[in-house]
Amino acid sequence: MSRLLIAAGNWKMHKTMEEASAYAEAFLPRMRMYRGLEIVVCPPFTALSVLQSAFRGTQVQLGAQNVHWEPQGAFTGEISVRMLQEFGCRYVIVGHSERRHIFRETSEEVGRKVKTLCVFGISPILCVGEKLEERDRGKTYEVVREQLQKGIAHLSPEEARNLVIAYEPVWAIGTGRAATPEDAEEVIRFIREELARAFNPHVAEYVRILYGGSVTPDNVFSFVVQKNIDGTLVGGASLDPSKFLSIVEETERAFIEKSKGA
Ligand code: PGA
Repeated sequence: MSRLLIAAGNWKMHKTMEEASAYAEAFLPRMRMYRGLEIVVCPPFTALSVLQSAFRGTQVQLGAQNVHWEPQGAFTGEISVRMLQEFGCRYVIVGHSERRHIFRETSEEVGRKVKTLCVFGISPILCVGEKLEERDRGKTYEVVREQLQKGIAHLSPEEARNLVIAYEPVWAIGTGRAATPEDAEEVIRFIREELARAFNPHVAEYVRILYGGSVTPDNVFSFVVQKNIDGTLVGGASLDPSKFLSIVEETERAFIEKSKGA
């Protein structure tokens, strides 16, 4: 089957409203319609409004970088699903390694966020991935399995169809040292098998699984052309409109290549 691919940009804590507008002005006129893929931009909360206007009627969809699991309440500094829906967010990144490791988010908390998003019909981009020392100790599959199992713990098979998963080895994020496409494919195939076990083979075939970690215009094709890799979650390179545009173009090229084999 051919799943719709995803080219997603995670801006992290970069770009003011003004810088986000300038980005859209540089990016949008150079876009055309792309086949077989979705383009997703996840800016900081403060830039959602300007980008909602800028991206209206284009192929670019909006995502956020975090959400609270409760629909509302006394949670100072947090943001709810319905607040994000007001900006037309279709995706929300959850469990990014920076949130897990800098802000000490637990896999249980991530699982609650995933559940809330799926209930509200927003797609979580659930990030999982091992640290370098865990890889060196041969623990990659164990760590990924645990993060995944806790992340999807509360979902029914129907809700799970909203899921997007991103495999992001922590040692590859922002380091310029990407995984090899073969290694990423192997872990992602393992994630798909785990989904089949947790839900059913149909859900496992349906869910999009991305690779993230030092993705660039030069290496993106080699990842996305892999059988089980359905796109990328891009940090640094997504901040530059020209580089992100090349990533989108290369993702389409991979889609065309994969459709030949299908
Ligand atoms: P990077 O970040 O592309 O800068 O390595 C990826 C991510 O954190 O999602």
